[in-house]
Amino acid sequence: MSKLLDLYNPDQFESIGKELITFLSDYLRKATADKIPVNNYKDPELALSSWKEFMKKDASLIDYFKKVIEDSIHLHNPNYMGHQVSAPAPLAAFGGLISDLLNNGMAVYEMGGASNPLEKMATDLICQAAGYDENSAGFMTSGGTLANLTALITARSVKTNVWDEGNSNQKLGIMVSEQAHYSVDRAARIMGLGSEGIIKLPVGDDYSVLAQKLTEKLEEAEANGIHVFAIVSSSCSTSTGSYDEIEAFKEFAQMNNIWLHVDGAHGGSAIFSKKYKHLLKGVEKADSFIVDCHKMMMTPTLCTAVLYKNRAHTLATFRQKAEYLFDESEQYDWHNSGKRTFECTKLMMSIKMMAIVRHSGAEVFEELVDTLYDNAAKFAQIIDDDPMFELALQPQANIICFRLITDSPDEVNSRIRQKILEEGKFYIVQTILNGHVYLRTSIMNPLTTEHHFHNLLKEIKRISYIQIQQTM
Ligand SMILES: Cc1ncc(COP(=O)(O)O)c(C=O)c1O
Repeated sequence: MSKLLDLYNPDQFESIGKELITFLSDYLRKATADKIPVNNYKDPELALSSWKEFMKKDASLIDYFKKVIEDSIHLHNPNYMGHQVSAPAPLAAFGGLISDLLNNGMAVYEMGGASNPLEKMATDLICQAAGYDENSAGFMTSGGTLANLTALITARSVKTNVWDEGNSNQKLGIMVSEQAHYSVDRAARIMGLGSEGIIKLPVGDDYSVLAQKLTEKLEEAEANGIHVFAIVSSSCSTSTGSYDEIEAFKEFAQMNNIWLHVDGAHGGSAIFSKKYKHLLKGVEKADSFIVDCHKMMMTPTLCTAVLYKNRAHTLATFRQKAEYLFDESEQYDWHNSGKRTFECTKLMMSIKMMAIVRHSGAEVFEELVDTLYDNAAKFAQIIDDDPMFELALQPQANIICFRLITDSPDEVNSRIRQKILEEGKFYIVQTILNGHVYLRTSIMNPLTTEHHFHNLLKEIKRISYIQIQQTM
């Protein structure tokens, strides 16, 4: 058989697939029980040369996949407490396999006969949980960064004439927390707003925006000749998991004819929780809202919902104003998703999220949020009770920033984080708050419990003790 035809052989697909599923299942058993280190960190140059060596060897495809796994970080290990990416529900990964195999590009209906309806159902489900009414709609896109850019372009199309006239004769701006994710800053710069057009809002001790400063900041911007067309609420912020007050933002936005966008990439899924949805109070009044299903909804990357209170606005982003102001009685062609997204061809992302809904029901998202936020609160309490550590702030979400108390905390905590990375037993990150280094953990895996929190603190103490011995 020619090499080309061999690649398309279904029998081979089946035999390698069966072997791989057995291997992956065993891998999952080990990872979830902490029987393999969370990380196998290597210097980047070493990693590259080891892959070059491997590709020269005579090895099977299964060996290749095994090496991919070996050299990757293991999010299903409960000692993973680092960046905000979900430990995906393993069953949802089958959706990824199907998406990759069928390769239905989705941009037009006939290229996504299953994925377009499922995308509508997935986004309608999130709209409903947010409290939007039947006039709302959304779509999926490839990540929170692209989602923020998409929503801000929509805001500019609706609130200004830039889509038709360009922005050479006016200075435009957006208002956003100084703690916002960098993707908002990046989106503003891509849109040509420049540094001056990014009006940074100051935060208080809990790292949420001081809502009483909004008017003052707008007046300052206007005095500099900037026309502010949008304000962004971080719901929650990336570094500390702090939620801005959406209701105060909405009142301000309404008074000043400004678009309100809610960046719920991380914390937006709290809308599914009766216990925590108060953190997003007022989100149902936001003009646009994004949620990363690959962060807090157990969906494999990438899968981000971009939602609009007014579904007509889904067509405003890339169209001329006159075109999106279609008569509401005309057909609303949700099924041609490419009109609304940056992507033309895109993954069948919703089939992964809807696989979770099909298998467990949407209630499982509430269980996840409650588990992760409750566990984070327990971890914060454990830290608070230990005189060797201090919290940067009481967490509102599942992100906890803390540090070991020492004479030179920045240097010591930074070295601790590096050592943890290299040793691979745990995975945590670090952040800078008010100019100081803090260890930062995001509790993303529902299997991470108090036992792992105690072990992490023990490990930090052990590393710091060894470091003290070495400097003596
Ligand atoms: C608040 C917030 N917005 C946007 C993003 C970007 O999302 P993505 O990584 O999916 O592009 C992140 C990522 O951590 C985030 O925390």
